[in-house]
Amino acid sequence: MENTKKAHIAGLRAIKQEVEPGIYAWCSCGLSSSQPFCDGSHRGTDFKPLKIHIEERKRISWCTCKQSEKAPICDGMHKKLPGYIPPQH
Ligand code: FES
Repeated sequence: MENTKKAHIAGLRAIKQEVEPGIYAWCSCGLSSSQPFCDGSHRGTDFKPLKIHIEERKRISWCTCKQSEKAPICDGMHKKLPGYIPPQH
């Protein structure tokens, strides 16, 4: 049975997007196939989407590792997780 207490790590990089004003439902469980947003896959777990109201057009770095302390915004926590490979420049 799936551990419903710990979020699934959906990715090891932030998703950077220019977003329009509106309400967004960020996936907190990590199971959505529409990252970084909820697609309903959390049903049956203890997770719920985190709603965020964006008031003006802006660039957002969405957390995909689901470990950020500033969720839904990336705080760089993914860089401390096993398997992280820094981007090559
Ligand atoms: S699919 Fe992850 S919170 Fe809804």
